[in-house]
Amino acid sequence: MKNVLRAAAVCSVLITPIAAQAEEGGMIEAGRQIFNHHCTACHTLDPSKNAFGPSLVGVVGRPAASVPRFSYSKAMQESGLTWNEENLRKWIADNEALVPETRMRHVSINDRAEQDYLISFLKSLK
Ligand code: HEC
Repeated sequence: MKNVLRAAAVCSVLITPIAAQAEEGGMIEAGRQIFNHHCTACHTLDPSKNAFGPSLVGVVGRPAASVPRFSYSKAMQESGLTWNEENLRKWIADNEALVPETRMRHVSINDRAEQDYLISFLKSLK
């Protein structure tokens, strides 16, 4: 009897995160498409390689301009930013407003949902 109760408790704990994960998976997929469309031309998903832009693997939570062997602009090196959600949102909405004189071409993704998807995707790159 005790075991049955325990199993029931475990089930109800498990079901919610699975639903949340499915939702998150959909957001990551949507973000991947936005990334493929707007960002892959310059950013690789291979952590050991930089392209025209630095690798974005692990970017969420890391300080700006911290990928080794990538030659960042002076503006980015001196920005003092950390790539948290808020700064990433500002960056993809208007990177030149956040870091004037960055070397990254102007991007402007203003749709809040698209920003959410893209950020979920970036978070999944570990
Ligand atoms: C035309 C090429 C190009 C495109 C397209 C591009 N980037 Fe960049 N990105 C760069 C370059 C170059 C830098 C380095 C900027 C600097 O040093 O000022 C950079 C830097 C970044 C950084 C800071 C990384 C760090 O290590 O500090 C982030 C985050 C970023 N890009 C995200 C994106 C996202 C998301 C997209 C798509 C919406 C995108 N970029 C599209 C070229 C590009």
